[in-house]
Amino acid sequence: MKKYLLLASILTSAQFTLAQDSIGHEDAIACTACHGLNGISTADNFPNLAGQGEAYLANQLIAFKEGSRKNTLMNAIAEHLSDDDISALAKFFSTLPIDGEAQTSEFSTVTLDQTRVKFPTDYENTFTQYSTVNRADNKQVRYIYANDIALAGAKDGGALPDGSVIVMVVNKAKLDTNGEPIVGADGYYEKESLAGYGLMEKASGWGDDIPVTLRNSDWNYAFFTADKTHKEGINQAACLACHRPLESGDFMFSAEALRTAAAN
Ligand code: HEC
Ligand code: HEC
Repeated sequence: MKKYLLLASILTSAQFTLAQDSIGHEDAIACTACHGLNGISTADNFPNLAGQGEAYLANQLIAFKEGSRKNTLMNAIAEHLSDDDISALAKFFSTLPIDGEAQTSEFSTVTLDQTRVKFPTDYENTFTQYSTVNRADNKQVRYIYANDIALAGAKDGGALPDGSVIVMVVNKAKLDTNGEPIVGADGYYEKESLAGYGLMEKASGWGDDIPVTLRNSDWNYAFFTADKTHKEGINQAACLACHRPLESGDFMFSAEALRTAAAN
């Protein structure tokens, strides 16, 4: 019943009645964080959903889910919607008035464009590399590092402590003449060049201003370019949305690898 409480807090009572018999996914992301309280968005980069055709909305969500329509944010969100969620959400937004007033919901996205994560100086010498990942889909090889606080926390088990920092170094793989990654003797792709850094860092209270449906406890995320400056146009909502389902591993895909490294 959690879903109804959530929706009740973001929708007016009339809308709530509507939503109650239509939306059925406990983890349904609060779409209103970005698309506005009434489905009329308050920011240019988020389209209005109110009053759009039901079939159109459903088809867009299916396309985002399947990946044929590409948008990092919506791909990550739609991935977790069931077919029933999609029909219910499409139905719901199609019935909202097209001339409604743009209103930010309490899950406003303002804070999602911002991040508190700073690039850790000297991570190369002070962090421990605990995982390497070949990414066949985008021809990358990624090196994942943790600081000592995260390692010590992983050893103790449970969620990682405040002050934990994870750095994921994203490298383009070296390609052969067929455009396929060259695999080295260790089984990992050989590195061609540095593409950037994905970071997550945790500190007390950092999750407080993030909508609860996107919140990853107190983690913040950031992406840095090869010269270690914040990458333009990155909204951490996409990071939060994709890592959100991994609560049992403290929102990390590599939680198991970190635990293993910490135990040794
Ligand atoms: C964190 C921000 C964010 C959240 C949360 C979000 N969206 Fe979106 N949504 C976007 C952005 C950005 C786009 C534009 C994508 C593009 O340019 O292709 C979009 C596009 C869409 C579209 C296509 C609209 C069109 O006119 O083609 C639909 C439908 C949609 N979202 C539905 C949803 C639903 C349903 C939810 C909740 C389950 C949701 N969105 C949650 C950011 C968000
Ligand atoms: C589409 C889903 C998706 C999105 C969006 C996403 N990640 Fe991840 N992330 C992953 C996966 C999967 C891994 C595991 C490593 C791999 O396969 O590359 C990962 C791993 C990581 C790691 C290493 C720790 C861990 O969880 O294993 C960091 C740090 C990270 N991501 C940061 C980010 C940042 C910063 C963003 C936003 C700019 C982001 N991620 C967006 C899927 C995603």
